[in-house]
Amino acid sequence: MKQVLGVDSLDADTDFLTLGATSIDMIRIVNRIEKELSYRPAIDELYRTPTVAGLSRLYAKQVGESVSSQIGIANLKGVHPVLSRLLDVPALDPADRDAFKQQQPGLRSDLEDAVAIALPAVNLDEGLYWQRRSHRQFSLKPVDQTQLSELLQCLRSCQLNEKHKYRYGSAGGLYPVQTYLYVQPGRISGLTHGTYYYHPIEHRLYPLRLNAELDPSTYDRLINRPIFHEAAFSLFLVGQLAAMTPIYREASLHYATIEAGLITQLLEMSAPICNLGLCQVGEINSSSIRQLFKLDDNHVLLHSLLGGAVDTTTVEGVVAQNEVRDGSFDQVADQEAARLLQRIDQLSDEDVARLLEEN
Ligand SMILES: Cc1cc2nc3c(=O)[nH]c(=O)nc-3n(C[C@H](O)[C@H](O)[C@H](O)COP(=O)(O)O)c2cc1C
Repeated sequence: MKQVLGVDSLDADTDFLTLGATSIDMIRIVNRIEKELSYRPAIDELYRTPTVAGLSRLYAKQVGESVSSQIGIANLKGVHPVLSRLLDVPALDPADRDAFKQQQPGLRSDLEDAVAIALPAVNLDEGLYWQRRSHRQFSLKPVDQTQLSELLQCLRSCQLNEKHKYRYGSAGGLYPVQTYLYVQPGRISGLTHGTYYYHPIEHRLYPLRLNAELDPSTYDRLINRPIFHEAAFSLFLVGQLAAMTPIYREASLHYATIEAGLITQLLEMSAPICNLGLCQVGEINSSSIRQLFKLDDNHVLLHSLLGGAVDTTTVEGVVAQNEVRDGSFDQVADQEAARLLQRIDQLSDEDVARLLEEN
């Protein structure tokens, strides 16, 4: 850690934070560990155990758990030769990430010899872009059950010619991706907080663990946990791979992941119709999910979203919510705390009393 923390040697129990490690140092440490060990500790876990000893415990735990790793994307090294090759390059520091993004590396820039053909002019509906976007702030008022019903309706199947049809495709029509809901205390009217399975044929919620609470450390402290604290609910898209492997064998995870993407797009496009906003969350600490949702060994967590009623109380809110939070952890935490307090001030006494009671 010499270059990162500027010290020659470190005791196993020395707290990096007492050495003056900043949040950027913490990300550098995580990057370095990933490069050396092909294992990326969650930044949040590093904050909880910011010592060499803590890191080794995390690593040992990860090695122990890796066989039953729930998220396929967490350990893609070796899955595809291109990815293995690209992962040999160290991950970017936060300072360089913006520059990388600005280059728009996803666009081809090697075709200057080709003469591009302009497509016929058609109107560009900018409203569509504004409609489907990530929301990272939510109203603290409860979401109405009808709003939730309208949202989940997009995943509901419909019987056509005696067949169950969905608004998204699934390899072989197998539909292995299941939707699970976590309701935050007091945030969806008439629904007890806890976990539920959404049945797409019956359009019903099956309670799994009522009154259970999702551990906030499921979400990383810097970016996603503040969103979780405001969100009214979380959705988890989980693949039941046993519903696919007899037919698609090793392609099953790939196909199920594509299906989770289709579902996500459908949810994001449906949310504004019911005045709800959603934010996709790719990286989560999934250790508690299996138990919370009563999953079996063939379930694989594929993706997740946080959601709530759209917050239209402040103009700044509308602008700011479209930007991923940035800055050091302390700055972000302070801003978040101040903003939450300001918004709690805007609630009626009745709403505050209810929230306090539920929490
Ligand atoms: C696979 C995936 C994972 C994502 N994970 C996160 C996340 O963890 N936290 C977050 O705030 N946004 C997350 N996003 C949302 C992207 O940041 C967002 O889609 C992107 O910045 C474009 O902004 P827009 O959705 O508002 O158009 C994720 C998006 C995708 C597709």
